[in-house]
Amino acid sequence: MIEINAVSKSYGGGTKKAVDHLSLTVKPGEIFGFLGPNGAGKTTTLKMIVGLLRPDSGSVRINGFDITTQPLEAKRQMAFVPDTPEVYEKLTGLEYLNFIGDIYNVPASQRRERIERFAETFELTGALGERISSYSHGMQQKLVLMSALLHNPPVWILDEPMVGLDPRSAHVLKELMAEHTRNGNTLFFSTHVLEVAEKLCDRVAIIKQGRIIACGTVEELRQNQSGGSLEEIFLELTQQ
Ligand SMILES: Nc1ncnc2c1ncn2[C@@H]1O[C@H](COP(=O)(O)OP(=O)(O)OP(=O)(O)O)[C@@H](O)[C@H]1O
Ligand SMILES: [Mg+2]
Repeated sequence: MIEINAVSKSYGGGTKKAVDHLSLTVKPGEIFGFLGPNGAGKTTTLKMIVGLLRPDSGSVRINGFDITTQPLEAKRQMAFVPDTPEVYEKLTGLEYLNFIGDIYNVPASQRRERIERFAETFELTGALGERISSYSHGMQQKLVLMSALLHNPPVWILDEPMVGLDPRSAHVLKELMAEHTRNGNTLFFSTHVLEVAEKLCDRVAIIKQGRIIACGTVEELRQNQSGGSLEEIFLELTQQ
């Protein structure tokens, strides 16, 4: 469960708020999509959830642990995949995964089994011995996803996870996301791909200029607007 309670954030002491009193709860078993125009405040919100940015005000709890006052406990509950993969390029893929496995205390046998399985599903087996600096963007993205899955925490937070993935890998990821939440876990992700959001998400929120302007199931949003696809609803809501 992710509980976001009235968080705000401005950059550079500026008067303009990137995120403005935003509140949201993502329940266990739920895939929640975070939508909004460029610069709306999605990444800023996600970084506050995972503890990379400290909110100016408000609070965030992950499975009951406050990210500011109980950061270690909160971080054990979750995996974050940022919008641009940040990996140690001098390591090989396998070294990187083992490094992450060490940080999160993943037992050796479990580690081996998961690395083999995910490398196969993401078609990365042959590349794991290579240095990350030789990886394409999509390969790096897959490696970061694998590192998140390696310690398999209950809460996944993904910032535009499909960007750069080939169709098969995007499909695999969507299946993994659905499976994770079927097992009672929590998934919060941002995306610009509205067809994916419409198909995959139990609920969505649309953020504009740091504030939530719509939240609910796609069906609920449809009833509040004049109907249509999520794309039509999004265009209508974000133009005003
Ligand atoms: N490091 C930063 N310094 C100053 N301003 C920033 C910084 N990061 C983001 N902003 C500003 O905060 C606002 C929200 O940005 P954010 O990255 O959260 O948007 P986003 O919804 O993730 O957009 P996108 O869809 O393009 O990824 C924007 O106005 C942006 O210019
Ligand atoms: Mg962003």
